[in-house]
Amino acid sequence: MTASPRGAPRRHGVTAVHSLSRFVFTVPDLGQAQRFYTEFGLDARRDGGRVDLCAHGDPHCWGSIFAAPGPKRLQYLSFGIYEEDFDPFVERLDRLGIAKTPPHRLGDDNGVWLADPDGNALQVVAAVKVSPAAPAAQPRPAPHPEGRGAAPGRSGAQPVRPQRLSHVLLFSSDVKASVRFYAEALGLRLSDHSGDVIAFMHGAHASDHHMLAFAKSAGPGLHHSSWVVDSIDAVGLGMQHMTDCGYVRGWGLGRHVIGSNYFFYVQDPWGSFAEYSHDIDFVPADVEWRATDHPLEDSFYVWGPPPPDYFIVNHEIAAPAG
Ligand SMILES: [Fe+2]
Repeated sequence: MTASPRGAPRRHGVTAVHSLSRFVFTVPDLGQAQRFYTEFGLDARRDGGRVDLCAHGDPHCWGSIFAAPGPKRLQYLSFGIYEEDFDPFVERLDRLGIAKTPPHRLGDDNGVWLADPDGNALQVVAAVKVSPAAPAAQPRPAPHPEGRGAAPGRSGAQPVRPQRLSHVLLFSSDVKASVRFYAEALGLRLSDHSGDVIAFMHGAHASDHHMLAFAKSAGPGLHHSSWVVDSIDAVGLGMQHMTDCGYVRGWGLGRHVIGSNYFFYVQDPWGSFAEYSHDIDFVPADVEWRATDHPLEDSFYVWGPPPPDYFIVNHEIAAPAG
């Protein structure tokens, strides 16, 4: 591994984004959004006309939600790139004939803006790496007490506090075209896929197994955001807490095949999902991950309940753009 001057991991000689720094979407009711993500365990801060999603104790804003009439709608993604890679990145866009676009109306004019094949707005900014530099440390479970029960009463269960964003999964009208674009333009790398139905991509400079994923649909949309928690117990506690709060629809608890993470997805008020994720695979900056085409029927989950029929529904494609 070759370290950058700042000590951050990098893949030598590769120009690529290092992080999915932020995702931005609109919903009709910001109060509803703040309630949902606060109960989910995030520091969901109302700031005038938007809600920012942070992990407790960490100032980085992983997501922003603005108010707009109509259904929930993905607005843009913002990626971080090492400063020394920014100019070569812009030169590559020019070489590939990828047009730069004006900044998104909800964004700022930092960095460079472009659009993916489905028309999603993307920002690439020189920024500090916020994706992980190493696999998450595995906390050692407390020793089992002798002669008494280890589990707390329900009322004594600790609230779940996700540590960071892991990834988002987007609907795509053409998964192969999306993978090609994000590989050529942004330098993301294919981790694994199931034919042209679903695909997972990691960052070149040390990354979770996926920071961005695509699922086939008739058009673009945001399917879920995934948030790292520190144990399987936390996945279950999050599931229980959200159920107790009335967010009763979801999928899990289970374990994925692709990415290996333990999961629970809770359905948000707009029909999409937020995922508690634990122990996802990690791709260091000096490892060539061998992308595998997994048979769909063998790749969705190792164990868990069957996904509900409302799990893969794109609520964004039937509505007019806003
Ligand atoms: Fe996920």
